[in-house]
Amino acid sequence: MSDVKSEAARLREEARKLEEQAKRLEAAEATREDVTATNKALPSANPEAPAQSDDQHTEDVAEMFGRMTKWYDLQNRVFSLWLDCWWRRNLVRSVVPGPTKHVIDMAAGTLDVSLALLRRYPELRVTATDICEPMLRYGMEKKVCPTERARITSMVADARHMPFEDGCADAVTIAFGIRNVRPRMDALREMHRLLVPGGRACILEFAPVSTPVFGPFYHWYLKHIMPRLAKLVSSSDSAFSYFAETIETFPKPADFSEELREAGFSFVQHIPFTLGVANIHIAVRG
Ligand SMILES: C[S@@+](CC[C@H](N)C(=O)[O-])C[C@H]1O[C@@H](n2cnc3c(N)ncnc32)[C@H](O)[C@@H]1O
Repeated sequence: MSDVKSEAARLREEARKLEEQAKRLEAAEATREDVTATNKALPSANPEAPAQSDDQHTEDVAEMFGRMTKWYDLQNRVFSLWLDCWWRRNLVRSVVPGPTKHVIDMAAGTLDVSLALLRRYPELRVTATDICEPMLRYGMEKKVCPTERARITSMVADARHMPFEDGCADAVTIAFGIRNVRPRMDALREMHRLLVPGGRACILEFAPVSTPVFGPFYHWYLKHIMPRLAKLVSSSDSAFSYFAETIETFPKPADFSEELREAGFSFVQHIPFTLGVANIHIAVRG
């Protein structure tokens, strides 16, 4: 009888130990998942980063913008002091409609540029493309008027491999999107391929600012102040650290012009706005 009792006690002790071990394993697994999620939250802005493939980077960027969709327009306005609307308006003015009456807005996000194109050029059709479906859906559902629907199509598509035939557009626009694309050259070549001869790639993008006094102040603000302000507005500062890094690692306008020539464009020009904080690059297919 006592043998049975002591065997039961031994089994109970064994069960207790197994239960503790299971709890420890569960806790370790949860920690590992947390670490993975934290790493995933922020794509790397460094094109040399060895651990992250270009496709993984693209996926992480799409997820990051998907998470911030709701706040995206408001953050743009507040952090640029509404200058972003003026920069985009100038981008849209640089477009010249041609024989196809079709413009592709790459990395269209919540459709600010696509809509400005529709409203300025009533004869145009616009195809808005992006890798982030929630951003496009938000734009289509919340911002496009019923009368505009027949002239705009939205499509999930990667700027590096666009599902359209050669020479199908008079212009390709991309606002604040190109610095997220890796490798950038693939998207620039795609823009060139999609254009009719004489067609324009119109690119709006931030750049590192090298102006004395304002340049260092601007970069200090980007790195140290903006992520803190962003945390107040959206409870996340990681997207804004990524935002600052992508600006700092983006080529200066003259170097970016060289990349556009390398992609095949025959005429390239850039116009600086707001002390060079943003630049419009116009590149013409020969
Ligand atoms: C800063 S937002 C700009 C959105 C919009 N053009 C604007 O002016 O507000 C950058 C956008 O680029 C998109 N993007 C990033 N990488 C991309 C890629 N490889 N192909 C297409 N879109 C991309 C993101 O999903 C995001 O919507």
